[in-house]
Amino acid sequence: MAEANSIAFCDFDKRETMTSVEVADVFNKVANSYDETWQSRNYSDHIYVAEGVADFFPERRADVRILDVAAGTGLLATQLWKKDFRKTDGLDPSTGMKTEAMKKHVYTNYYLEFMDGHVIDNLDTDSYSCLVVAAAFNTGFLPCVSLLEMVRLVKPGGLICFGVPDSRFTEVKEYINRLAPLMLWMEQDGLWQLLDKKHYDDFYDDANPGNVFRYMVHASDVDVEKYIHRLRNSHLEK
Ligand SMILES: C[S@@+](CC[C@H](N)C(=O)[O-])C[C@H]1O[C@@H](n2cnc3c(N)ncnc32)[C@H](O)[C@@H]1O
Repeated sequence: MAEANSIAFCDFDKRETMTSVEVADVFNKVANSYDETWQSRNYSDHIYVAEGVADFFPERRADVRILDVAAGTGLLATQLWKKDFRKTDGLDPSTGMKTEAMKKHVYTNYYLEFMDGHVIDNLDTDSYSCLVVAAAFNTGFLPCVSLLEMVRLVKPGGLICFGVPDSRFTEVKEYINRLAPLMLWMEQDGLWQLLDKKHYDDFYDDANPGNVFRYMVHASDVDVEKYIHRLRNSHLEK
């Protein structure tokens, strides 16, 4: 059973057939070996995202309110803590991952929630100055529309910083011809502005190149339905 869960954790095709609740349950079961697994695979996405955040906030880091989405066991928040950020909340649907994360004492709050485009009632609009994501744009994890809820939560002038391996844009069904266009539409519509994207050769396994994207949020009033409709019809726009 443990082996089956560990396989599902790493097997994108298997995750494709799972519900979100089943995916979260896989993480419940691999949570206590998660850090060890990634350490053995030279995981670096979270380190690069933390560097992008630290660069944006050179001063008064202890006061910056950050939401770590798909927070897992807190690997990214640990990197932020090392850089003197002291007000990070986590959000993740997996109770097992939360249990592991809370042992690290790097989160103020940790919300057991899915980020999937629905409005998260617990979290007010413009609550955060920064939102981060590492290793969660992948099969069965964050859907494209989750970006819209992220923008709602970050105040104008704040930062959204996330890593995406290049292959996700072309290999993950949910993202093919959808994620990159949505990121662009959101910019064209004035929701956010791309500050930069920094390319790295090795997100994990000393391979898997990708970008860390840094967006400044401009507006938090988001018409999610409009984008859902547009994504549904995106194949017609090609
Ligand atoms: C590969 S782990 C990444 C964890 C952490 N960010 C890191 O860098 O180690 C993916 C995490 O995404 C979470 N997850 C999956 N779907 C999610 C969703 N829709 N919203 C929020 N978290 C989700 C899982 O529970 C899991 O903890």
